[in-house]
Order: sequence, then C-alpha cells, then structure tokens
Amino acid sequence: MTDWTAADLPEMTGTRVVVTGANSGIGKEATRAFARVGADVTLACRSVDRGEEAVADIERTESRLPGEMQVQELDLADLDSVAAFADGWEGPLDILCNNAGVMAIPRTETHDGFETQFGVNHLGHFALTGRLLDALRASDGEARVVTQSSAVHERGDIDFDDLHGERSYDKWEAYAQSKLANVLFGYELQRRLDAAGIDDVTSAVCHPGWAATNLQRRGPEAEGSELKRLLMKAANGLFAQSAERGAWPMLYAAVADDVAGEYVGPGGFMNARGAPERQRSSERSYDEATAARLWEVSSDLTGVDYEFAGDDADTAATDESDTADSATADD
Ligand SMILES: NC(=O)c1ccc[n+]([C@@H]2O[C@H](COP(=O)([O-])OP(=O)(O)OC[C@H]3O[C@@H](n4cnc5c(N)ncnc54)[C@H](OP(=O)(O)O)[C@@H]3O)[C@@H](O)[C@H]2O)c1
Repeated sequence: MTDWTAADLPEMTGTRVVVTGANSGIGKEATRAFARVGADVTLACRSVDRGEEAVADIERTESRLPGEMQVQELDLADLDSVAAFADGWEGPLDILCNNAGVMAIPRTETHDGFETQFGVNHLGHFALTGRLLDALRASDGEARVVTQSSAVHERGDIDFDDLHGERSYDKWEAYAQSKLANVLFGYELQRRLDAAGIDDVTSAVCHPGWAATNLQRRGPEAEGSELKRLLMKAANGLFAQSAERGAWPMLYAAVADDVAGEYVGPGGFMNARGAPERQRSSERSYDEATAARLWEVSSDLTGVDYEFAGDDADTAATDESDTADSATADD
C-alpha cells in the first residue's frame, strides 16, 4: 500500500475537471479536494439545486479554496441530457471523473428504456466520455478519464441476452453487472486509445472500498424499507471509511502517472479502506472479447460511436441517431 492521501495532490491551478455525481458522497469530497489545490471543477449533477447546495457547503467549510466550482446539469439517465452537457462544454477538458452511480435499486428504466443501474452507471458514462473526447484531446497535457467501479464488480457478469433485466432482475446482480461494465469500459478505452496511437488521453479505473455515503440508503428508500435503511446505516457506522477517504483512489487515479489502463483501490483491510494502490480486478474484467462486445453494444444502444483518430486527425464521437448532419462532440 502507498501512503498517498489527498494532501499529496499536486498544485492544479488551471486544470479543468468534470466530476459526475459531485453533489454527494465521494464526488463531493473529490470536488472539494480538487478545488483545494486550485483546479476548476464542474459539478455534473442531475439536480442543479443539490449541486449548488454542495458548492455552498464546501465553500462554507473551507478556509482557503483557490479553485473555482460551477454546477452543470447532467442526468445520466437521459441521453439527451448527456448530449446537452457535452454540447455545452467549451474548450479543453483535462480530467473526467465518471463517478455518479446508483446501487441495488428496484428495477426501473431510464428515459431511454435502459435498466437504470446499467443505464446510469455504465451507458450514461459511455456516452458522456465519447462526446467529450475532443475536449479531452484538446487538453494541453495528458488528459485522464477515471471511471469509478466497485469491488462488487468481482461478482458481476455481462448478461448480453438480458442486459436490462427484462426477463429476470436481481438488484445486486444488476449493480455488479454495471460495475463490471465500468471496468471493462475503462480498460477497453485505454486499449482503443493505444491502438489509435493516441497518447494524450489515458483511462484508469478505480473503486473506493467501502465509504459511508448516500449510496447505501437509496435502495432501501426506493423499496420503502426502513429496516434495511437502518441496517445499512449501522453497517456504515461500523465498517465504512469516510467519503473523504473513499475519494482517494479516484483522486490518485486522476493524477498518478502509472495508472493508464490500471485499476486503483484502497490497499488497507480487505481493500475496503486505506491509501490507494494499483490492484488487480476480476479475471472477467480482463476478457478483451467481452470488452469489445460490450463496447459495440454500448455504442449501438447510446448511438455514440467513438471515432478514434491518431495524432494527425481529430477524434470525434459521432451521434448515429442524428439523421441529417452527423453530429460530433464539438458541433
Ligand atoms: N460508497 C461506497 O462504499 C461505494 C463502494 C463502491 C463503489 N461506489 C461507487 O462510487 C460512486 C459514487 O457513489 P457514492 O458512494 O458517493 O454515493 P452517493 O453519495 O449516493 O453519490 C452518488 C451520486 O451519483 C448521482 N447520480 C445518481 N443518479 C444519477 C443520474 N441519473 N445522473 C447523474 N447523477 C446521478 C447522485 O445524485 P443525487 O444526489 O441527485 O441522487 C449522487 O450525486 C458510485 O459510482 C458508486 O457505485 C461507492
């Protein structure tokens, strides 16, 4: 295990960062840490009000905050919202933290008819990253995409015959599938960047261990189970580390120079807490055939087709759903 903490972040004045799900938990603490060292952070939140509340809270509790924070609406359960966020992005982007997520909720569907955990945790971020690729490539230095997974990915499998749990749905299996998809996506993105000879954008995957956040109460609340909510709260109190510490792997994965195509998580007790380190993910997550298949399916479902081009050409994510002029991320 390293002894790295958020105090080891470099000075980041002028670095532009997007954090999805930044109004709560790990995303909020990552936003605070980035802003403390001078980065300009866009909080990409499905509720602008909750994003503004998080900004106000961070400003109220920090004595010195050199970085700027702004809130932009982004609902990962709505591909139109993802497109609007990316279309509204101006200029380069240095770090994209694909962090937002939901866990173990009863089956619902996103605006576009995807099972919500797969749709928000994976497909929304797949579409967002593709649409922001030109902005990432426009970064002066090496831009980084960090995708937040979970140790639960180790129990996951990609059920290509029933991706959306229409025939059979188990809330934990659906979560594990979405979190395995996060790892497969992060690795496949790095492979595709490498294959295209693009070295100014890199991709890393992380997991926070176990951190006490709002994540654990969403499922019980959606089920209307006060007992499960209280049990989750008690388990958090006993076993979880703080959201602040839970943000360390994502922060490390955003700035370390040895994490391209790697998986980063806490190195302490049962990899549930502690300082970040590079780790091995599940055997399944290294299956390149599954990753390639998931990529094609994700592209079909979202209508976002990454067009990787090498250093001499532009990289664009084509929106296949546009029938007139083919739209690109910088249209
Ligand atoms: N906490 C842990 O122990 C743990 C363990 C493993 C992995 N993770 C992962 O860490 C990430 C962050 O979770 P957290 O623990 O910080 O939980 P959290 O406090 O519940 O934060 C989740 C964030 O995601 C946002 N979100 C949910 N649905 C969204 C949507 N449709 N569009 C945009 N944003 C949406 C939430 O917004 P609202 O506030 O508006 O709902 C919230 O800002 C997740 O990917 C989770 O799977 C967490």
